[in-house]
Amino acid sequence: MNYSIETNPLETLKSDLLIVGIYSNQQLSFAAKTLDVVTNGLLTSVVKRGDIAGKLNDTLLLNVVPNSNIERILLVGLGEQKPLSAKNYRKILTATINALKKLKVNSVAISLTDCDVEKVDLTWKTRQIVEIFEDGIYQFTECKTKPSDEITLKNIVITTTDSTAAETGLAQGLAIAEGVTLAKHLADLPANICTPTFLAQQALTLAGTFDAIETTILDVADMEKLGMGSFLAVARGSREPAKLISLEYRGGDKNSKPIVLIGKGLTFDSGGISLKAGAGMDEMKYDMCGGAAVLGTLQAAAQLNLPLNIVGLIPSTENMPDGQANKPGDILTSMSGKTIEVLNTDAEGRLILCDTLTYAKRFQPEVVIDLATLTGAVLVALGRVPSGLLGNDDALCNDLITASETANDSVWRLPLWEEYQEQLKSNFADLANIGGKDAGTITAACFLANFAEDFRWAHLDIAGTAWRTGSAKGATGRPVPLLTQYLLNRVHA
Ligand code: BES
Ligand code: MN
Ligand code: ZN
Repeated sequence: MNYSIETNPLETLKSDLLIVGIYSNQQLSFAAKTLDVVTNGLLTSVVKRGDIAGKLNDTLLLNVVPNSNIERILLVGLGEQKPLSAKNYRKILTATINALKKLKVNSVAISLTDCDVEKVDLTWKTRQIVEIFEDGIYQFTECKTKPSDEITLKNIVITTTDSTAAETGLAQGLAIAEGVTLAKHLADLPANICTPTFLAQQALTLAGTFDAIETTILDVADMEKLGMGSFLAVARGSREPAKLISLEYRGGDKNSKPIVLIGKGLTFDSGGISLKAGAGMDEMKYDMCGGAAVLGTLQAAAQLNLPLNIVGLIPSTENMPDGQANKPGDILTSMSGKTIEVLNTDAEGRLILCDTLTYAKRFQPEVVIDLATLTGAVLVALGRVPSGLLGNDDALCNDLITASETANDSVWRLPLWEEYQEQLKSNFADLANIGGKDAGTITAACFLANFAEDFRWAHLDIAGTAWRTGSAKGATGRPVPLLTQYLLNRVHA
């Protein structure tokens, strides 16, 4: 979709539809008042009639506007006349795009940045329009022979008084939305298309698009030389060759240390010999959502030309039950030298991430953040609302919490206390790869912490947030908004 910023008054614009807000108690927003004047009191009379109560998320289409050049008006309920919460502002925008999608319009003008929203500025309000509209129109149609409902909407004109702040919001919104779309698209692709080789190809494409990104693909032979015995043990169970995808974005000073983002890129998790149950196993194509979010975030950073150095690392393989697959009881030697007893082959994410964490050391990172669909247990603890956050550095965790609030991409911190390390003891190796039935998200992070001792590190467990299940099954693109906001905050810090 095309977006533009317009400082001319709403009613002078040429578009198929104008969007204005209405408060409950028949109060018109500023833009609605102006439109009311040019339409000879049309809005006042519609509101008086009670056709729209102005409750949050109400919408009403006026598809004929008498004696006027204006073709259509979409009234949107803003609730009580007082500053909106950020969440309610986002809900209103979601209701708006849902109403627009159903209409055969091409070009619309939206005045909703004139709403007062608590604790945010115009840049933020503009950015949300782009993020929420792009999220709303996303469809995965690639594998359907007859595409579903076609969306005719092409142009969005955002009306505002301050074009500088709005243009900043527009640029940020586009970068985040396009990063989210990339992540969603890769995640929604089935595992027979989106293989480790395919993901590696995507990373190479990003490097082709942006001069500041350089991509290196390590294959199995390279990883053997590095001694990645843990990662490679998972990869042995699959016929698809494993890849360690490395992207380096250089936007910062030559000497400034990079932020390293590591994304779990398990393109299909069958569980391996500890095979998962059949129901819902299709959703394990989403086990690469961490990797997809790394690609989406790097794209956003490059698009915004952020003056930072960022490294993206994506260990990518399938977890399959093959004659060569990991078996319960096998003992692996990781790249760090630590040995691991595989008590459950389905706890494979940590096995590929631990070697990637060790590999990350060579970049002398400022911080390392990994994102992984790591545990079903995070759904038990937190549901599908926040991502789980754990880490060995309070300042880094707090920075992520702050960013998550601005980005509306929530996280909740869980403790990473040493007491939990007890659960990972093995009779035969340095570590077991599972920690029993209690506190599964924490023990998974504790396992990783053993490989992140040399740097500031945070872990996001995104198993509950990276995709939706049920009738709205589909990827969310999280945590691209959170990570991009974290990077933006680093620039301005
Ligand atoms: N990819 C899964 C985590 C997962 C499970 C995400 C269900 C979303 C929904 C991960 O590799 C896994 O299988 N974890 C196991 C760990 C267990 C064996 C300790 C799990 O959560 O069941
Ligand atoms: Mn698994
Ligand atoms: Zn997995």
